[in-house]
Amino acid sequence: MTQNKITTPFTQKLGIRYPIVVAPMFLISNPDMLVAAGEAGAIAIMPSLNLRTAELFEDALVDIKKRTSAPFGINLILLQNPRLQEDLDLIIKYKVPLVVTSLGNPAPVIEKVHAYGGLVFCDVINLQHAKKVKDVGADGLVTVSFGAGGHAGKVAANVLVPWLKKETGLPVLASGGISTGEQIHAALALGADAAYMGTRFIATQEAPAEEGYKQMILSAGPEDIVLSPEVTGHDCNFLKDSLARYSSGEVGLKRWKDVWSAGQGVGLIHDSPTIKDLIDRLVSEYRESVLRIQKTI
Ligand SMILES: Cc1cc2nc3c(=O)[nH]c(=O)nc-3n(C[C@H](O)[C@H](O)[C@H](O)COP(=O)(O)O)c2cc1C
Repeated sequence: MTQNKITTPFTQKLGIRYPIVVAPMFLISNPDMLVAAGEAGAIAIMPSLNLRTAELFEDALVDIKKRTSAPFGINLILLQNPRLQEDLDLIIKYKVPLVVTSLGNPAPVIEKVHAYGGLVFCDVINLQHAKKVKDVGADGLVTVSFGAGGHAGKVAANVLVPWLKKETGLPVLASGGISTGEQIHAALALGADAAYMGTRFIATQEAPAEEGYKQMILSAGPEDIVLSPEVTGHDCNFLKDSLARYSSGEVGLKRWKDVWSAGQGVGLIHDSPTIKDLIDRLVSEYRESVLRIQKTI
């Protein structure tokens, strides 16, 4: 009989049931999402900066730990982040099980998180950065491919995942465009330890995104996603109609809050379920996909 688990070295290390990571999203990820994903057998990550002050970040950590014993993750931006030291101290104080770093040199973070037994995975989009984070002791990579929500890479996922895994030998979390269980299966087949999914989880009941944002994700296709450096100075994927308002010079629009980021996986998103229902569905789609492919051999 199949156990109610999908096991990879990553799920075993963290003690989670499924290789599904609800990716960190600026202004979206919140404690409710972390608790719901953890209780449903996946793991979710929140950028520490989603809380406006370090005090509020500490309150959020206490709140999450009170509501669930499931592991969760925190995302730390390493460059131009005046709260880096304070937030890292809180991560250490509360022994956050998984830390994902973006931009910059993760060496000091890795040393301190390893000291209490936590794991550090690093966002990368190319081999050069992947080798650097490997050299300073990263536990694994988040491979951000072309078509991902947020700041996307330039390499297609079905190349990036096996390429960086082979070149570095590190565990890989596949990021970019994954919205279904079939795609989780494909990511694992390419050598990933887990699927790292952002956009799909914006259209969930727990995500605090505006209704208009969720509706735009439900009605968009991959061709409605535009890669542009216009908003943040770096290539970032946005919903076309939302970016058009910004580009037209409409006044008072705030980056990220009013200009909505999403990845090409929008084409496969048609509803806004609870996080638990979504994770259960992803797991059944994954199993159906595995069984279907098994019949081919
Ligand atoms: C609205 C939005 C905000 C994001 N903010 C962050 C962030 O603050 N830190 C980070 O490391 N990644 C961020 N990302 C990237 C995600 O963590 C993840 O890599 C990406 O969403 C995966 O691609 P997908 O959206 O196609 O699933 C963001 C993505 C989106 C859509």
